[in-house]
Amino acid sequence: MSNYHIKHLEEYFQVYRKSVRYPEKFWEEIAEEHFLWRKRWDKVLEWDFSKPEVKWYQGAKLNITENCIDRHLFSHGDDTAIIFEPNNPDEEAQHISYNELHRRVCKFANVLKNQGIKKGDRVCIYLPMIPELSVAMLACARIGAIHSIVFAGFSSSALATRILDSDCKMVITSDGSYRGSKTIDLKSIVDAALEKCPEVTKVLVAKRINSDIQLKEGRDEWLQPLLDKAEEICEPEMMDAEDPLFILYTSGSTGKPKGMMHTCGGYMVYSAYTFKNVFNYRTGDVYWCTADIGWITGHSYIVYGPLINCATTVMFEGVPSYPDFGRFWDIVEKHKVNQFYTAPTAIRALAKENIEYIESHDLSSLKVLGTVGEPINEEAWHWYNDNVGEKNCPIVDTWWQTETGGIMISPIPHSTPTIPTYATLPLPGIQPALMDEEGKELKGYQVQGKLCIKFPWPGMARTVWGDHQRYKDTYFSAYENKYFSGDGALRDNVGYYRITGRADDVVIVSGHNLGTAPIEDAINEHQAVAESAIVGFPHDVKGNALYGFVILKEVGEYRKHENVRKEINQLITEHIGPIAKLDKIQFVSGLPKTRSGKIMRRILRKIASKDTSNLGDTSTLLNPEVVQEIIENSLNK
Ligand code: PRX
Repeated sequence: MSNYHIKHLEEYFQVYRKSVRYPEKFWEEIAEEHFLWRKRWDKVLEWDFSKPEVKWYQGAKLNITENCIDRHLFSHGDDTAIIFEPNNPDEEAQHISYNELHRRVCKFANVLKNQGIKKGDRVCIYLPMIPELSVAMLACARIGAIHSIVFAGFSSSALATRILDSDCKMVITSDGSYRGSKTIDLKSIVDAALEKCPEVTKVLVAKRINSDIQLKEGRDEWLQPLLDKAEEICEPEMMDAEDPLFILYTSGSTGKPKGMMHTCGGYMVYSAYTFKNVFNYRTGDVYWCTADIGWITGHSYIVYGPLINCATTVMFEGVPSYPDFGRFWDIVEKHKVNQFYTAPTAIRALAKENIEYIESHDLSSLKVLGTVGEPINEEAWHWYNDNVGEKNCPIVDTWWQTETGGIMISPIPHSTPTIPTYATLPLPGIQPALMDEEGKELKGYQVQGKLCIKFPWPGMARTVWGDHQRYKDTYFSAYENKYFSGDGALRDNVGYYRITGRADDVVIVSGHNLGTAPIEDAINEHQAVAESAIVGFPHDVKGNALYGFVILKEVGEYRKHENVRKEINQLITEHIGPIAKLDKIQFVSGLPKTRSGKIMRRILRKIASKDTSNLGDTSTLLNPEVVQEIIENSLNK
């Protein structure tokens, strides 16, 4: 037996040891026993991190949607696959059974086919958290089209960049979305984006808010009439294990976003295996992840991982504060949620609110609590443990990334003893390494360094879409023969890992990965701005917030530009989205630079974090005098 479901610590160690000694055998047994393949693989693994090239289950044929849906129909067809909880609590929740999901996905897949979408075509999905989003992604997977989901909070220009980068032929969107008490006009964002994307010839529009929108003739169509006419059966396309399943963009510290490409076979095995173990999911449980499907967390742990395991997964359209700060707990009580997975930023925001919101709800159904997206601070961890879990629910602090496809380091409930702020131990099959400044691996305990992975795992991204060199440069060049995550971590005296944060110029704000370079590019478009530098600083709810240091073209110019700060944030909203807005903007006369012209962000980070007692070595600065001036005028004194 492959020990698909780990139940105690001893078993974890056994399984882990086996997964490291015989990784191919380990992943072969899991694949064999728990998934539906139409043809078996010829080879479990082939890899070479120097190229880098990684292939899992080569030669195998499958369709992930058969694993997510079809194979459950015989004995679980009437079980609930998706519970859709609308933004407005007065609107009734939808319970979508596996039978119904099958029908909807097949119909949608036929619509795509009828519109000329074929295997290998890229389809951009820009939808709010409504059932059509899950159905659309599964419909793409059913016919072998590659979905590229763009979080519906991104601006039109961010959307256009992503559509162009992967040459999407079609966009699937809606007339709008509900978000708390607001409505958002998604369709006009798509219209603006498509002005720059002439290759997109079809836009399918789901109706959600019944707003009065314009359909562009020949290009836009309402989705529902097409679905009504479509056949209910759609044979799944047979895919090679290494065929692309989806592209999902993530910010880099420089340049345009990277389209991480995930493949059918390995991603299926990895998302399913990790879901089962990390959440200790049992048949009949109701599982809820509060992420948006526009992020990797939603891909792997709202849709694919749960459905492959025949789980009931909750999809929530709204926000934690609407109609009040008790909404999450309302939903837990209403649907008797057993596993609850959210982000530290949400926990911190809710912890600030009246405890009454929690105490007035029955949360006794909860069995496992999860967190993801950024380091969780000790206070938030305890609040979550004491108040939400009532000290009865193991907390799984899960470390992973868009690039890794699934959870990498995490406790396993009832197996791994938890410690606040520690992601604890690597999951089976994952071989972490910590690297020192010289590029050597730090062996043993009580060490701290850059977090790498030494051996491939099935869920890892295979490339950056259209730019394999960038994939190599970003992840496989810093250390020989290792995947570099971009994070720092420490390993304590028992081998537990604690993630210390990003080691590059990516800042995580409210759990969202933001590269500083694209934000600076947006600011620099302002006519009064000469140069800018962005850094993160600690924020008690968002984890980090953004601080901008901006040089204006003429000294004193900003006095005439009362609105420059506002306009800068407006530009950022237009180029990226409101999530990237700056909390603080300080106008400066210069930025600390090295002799080679590089901005010394380390110093700016310290100033923004009110930590100016020891600025470290500033002797290589070209303009040391500017540092004092920046400190004196700091907005974070
Ligand atoms: O810095 C790490 C942080 O989030 C980054 C990955 O972001 P993204 O690709 O958007 O995926 C987020 C959801 C998987 C990582 O490089 N991160 C993620 N989980 C944790 C974390 N930092 C600390 N603890 C975590 N549990």
